[in-house]
Amino acid sequence: PLAEQQGTWVFGYGSLIWKIDFPYERRVVCHVRGLHRRFWQGSHDHRGTPTAPGRVVTLVGHDEYMSKWRAIDSTPAPPLDNDAFGANSLNIDSDSALERCFGVAYKLPRKEVDRVLAHLDFREKNGYSAHSVPIYTDSSNDPFAIARVYIGNTDNVAFLGPASVPVLASHIVRARGPSGRNIDYFLNLCAAVRVISSHNPDVHLSALEERVRTLAVVEKVAITEPNED
Ligand code: BEZ
Repeated sequence: PLAEQQGTWVFGYGSLIWKIDFPYERRVVCHVRGLHRRFWQGSHDHRGTPTAPGRVVTLVGHDEYMSKWRAIDSTPAPPLDNDAFGANSLNIDSDSALERCFGVAYKLPRKEVDRVLAHLDFREKNGYSAHSVPIYTDSSNDPFAIARVYIGNTDNVAFLGPASVPVLASHIVRARGPSGRNIDYFLNLCAAVRVISSHNPDVHLSALEERVRTLAVVEKVAITEPNED
């Protein structure tokens, strides 16, 4: 129950899953509902530059996704009978609740909250804003806490929006910025998400990864395999 999980939680669905440069008290694999993870946010300051932005992830709300983006999204639809997480048995009645984005939540040490949030607010600038979302584990249909999450809303200055899988892949294979190559960010994310959600694969990441790996070979871009421990 929520009451048991007081304190300040941060939910990471991107680099926060594997790039942890802040202190925390607990780390919990969990998911958010009704939000689609997409490589639709431009990165001008980390994995790209203002003239050649990289592509990083943001979250798009299910209702907005269905009304505005679904028709032009290149992501394959998930299998119709996808009940890997037992949604039917949990008596979930809305489409929105079926969309799950897996990530990791961190509980911040009480004395460090202000410092860590200031650090993250700075790290995740470039179009992202902080929001509050309920976070869930697989074992319950009730959220176990409310977490802070950084989202690049679809009207933010760095939002690039959807593109075909080949176009997204070519951005990712070519871009680089002050934090390194876009392809390294991408492969790190794919590996980290595979580890935490093998029971519910992310179709957007899988479709892109296949193309990114093929293109990297064609373009002779070195692939550095992340550690999948
Ligand atoms: C995340 O891992 O949740 C994240 C990282 C960078 C920007 C936005 C979100």
